[in-house]
Amino acid sequence: MKIVAFHNLKGGVGKTAAAANIAALAAEAGIPTLLWDLDPQGAVSWYFANTGSGARAPKAGRLVKGKTPIGKTIVPTGIDNLDLIPADVSFRNIDLQLEKHGDNNTLAEWLEPLGEDYALVVLDCPPSMSRLAEQVFRVADRVLVPLVPTWLSLNSWHQMQAFIADKKLDSSKFYPFWTMADRRKTLHRELLESPPRELKQLMPGYIPYASDVERMGEKRQPVHWFAPRSSAAIAYRLLWRSLSKGKRSLKL
Ligand SMILES: Nc1ncnc2c1ncn2[C@@H]1O[C@H](COP(=O)(O)OP(=O)(O)OP(=O)(O)O)[C@@H](O)[C@H]1O
Ligand SMILES: [Mg+2]
Repeated sequence: MKIVAFHNLKGGVGKTAAAANIAALAAEAGIPTLLWDLDPQGAVSWYFANTGSGARAPKAGRLVKGKTPIGKTIVPTGIDNLDLIPADVSFRNIDLQLEKHGDNNTLAEWLEPLGEDYALVVLDCPPSMSRLAEQVFRVADRVLVPLVPTWLSLNSWHQMQAFIADKKLDSSKFYPFWTMADRRKTLHRELLESPPRELKQLMPGYIPYASDVERMGEKRQPVHWFAPRSSAAIAYRLLWRSLSKGKRSLKL
């Protein structure tokens, strides 16, 4: 089982949109996939959850104390090969819970039994550098970091690098990719064409700024379902292809 996390300290940069599209593309490729919504905002749950599935969402306190087996919180999405662990508002306090009880019961342990049923777990993370983020960074095989091509958003990459160094994490699992890129903007074009050297493992291509991605909220579907030939659908397919084939692949 491989674990891929979408994370950035910065909010609203396309983590959830990418997590949803990549999870759906993986499932369609026949890979048994579990999407876990770790963000109490519940955006990825909104895209995929069937009515009433929120009742199954894991409560942070019970999970951390080992009282809820994670398997009991999984719900089907209605898409073949794609299941979901929905978000719960209690995840707002998960860092407090982890601080109090979490040393022996970590995200890695919760995920471990899932290897029997899933080949891929996709984690949609909240925008923070927290105890939970540290656990995500430890357990993930790959951390995909959406970056808007601006200097300010590169600052969030630098902050992440500092956090990785501080916590002595494996920096080789962090892969940035461009997101919300608008080629009409000179700076975006310049950064796409000549990426800063510190973005060593930059994924190929970029996710364009596109209203089709915003429409996912209305359609509650991955973008390639309702706009299969759109630039956004093509971009997510390219990102998925890089994860599933070639030298940057996850070897699923
Ligand atoms: N490529 C894109 N083009 C246009 N709009 C986008 C794109 N990606 C995401 N959006 C829109 O921007 C908003 C934020 O996107 P998303 O929820 O994916 O970001 P996020 O990084 O997960 O945010 P948060 O930090 O709040 O979890 C949403 O309304 C989404 O529809
Ligand atoms: Mg999000």
